[in-house]
Amino acid sequence: MSGILNSAQEMYLHELRNEPDKLIKEMELFAAEKKIPILDWKSAEFLEQIILIHRPKKVLEIGTAIAYSSIRIARHLRLKASLDTIEKSKDNIKLAAGYIQRAKLISSIKIFEGEAFEIIPKLKIKYDFIFLDADKQDYEKLFYLSLNLLKKGGVIFIDNLLWHGYVASKTVPDEYQISTKFIRQFNQLFLNQTGLKTTILPIGDGIGLGVKI
Ligand SMILES: C[S@@+](CC[C@H](N)C(=O)[O-])C[C@H]1O[C@@H](n2cnc3c(N)ncnc32)[C@H](O)[C@@H]1O
Repeated sequence: MSGILNSAQEMYLHELRNEPDKLIKEMELFAAEKKIPILDWKSAEFLEQIILIHRPKKVLEIGTAIAYSSIRIARHLRLKASLDTIEKSKDNIKLAAGYIQRAKLISSIKIFEGEAFEIIPKLKIKYDFIFLDADKQDYEKLFYLSLNLLKKGGVIFIDNLLWHGYVASKTVPDEYQISTKFIRQFNQLFLNQTGLKTTILPIGDGIGLGVKI
């Protein structure tokens, strides 16, 4: 449950869902079993729609995990378009590489191994789509670093801005206190960012969408 919709609404959408892809289903089950956070399926479908509408040539993803969202993005890119994705966990990189190979997407997805703070400043190209999905305490710094690499007219897509509903809740479990504080601060600066047309959409765990103007 995302915590954004009520249980009946969540169940209704779940029952309507028509996901024929076996690899995607397998990855969702694997991530749930191993407690590896990946994009909510509704957000992933929305992400695919935005990719189809915006038709980016170069995409940057910060936070690969097992490459669930990487694969969903790359499958909707046009010929010759590509995705660069950054991941610091060696275990996740191994899993991601395996899934990317099985998805036959080695030629369109490049994994950058290491800390995004160090990798992003070294990237020499500009991107027309950036997906930020890293540790929540890193969001502010990674947002500003990656914004330098976003082309004019480019789109930035950020996950977890409603953070299981906690950002809007008076009671927050102890283990979510710090991350909730970071996301609340981040949402303020994101929605007041000059040069970016922004909104937060109640899809999945809350999607921040920004267009560089
Ligand atoms: C929420 S998961 C990404 C999920 C993935 N985007 C998906 O939907 O399938 C976040 C991942 O980002 C990685 N990560 C977090 N902060 C990072 C950083 N500063 N640099 C590189 N990787 C980072 C974590 O190791 C984790 O695997």
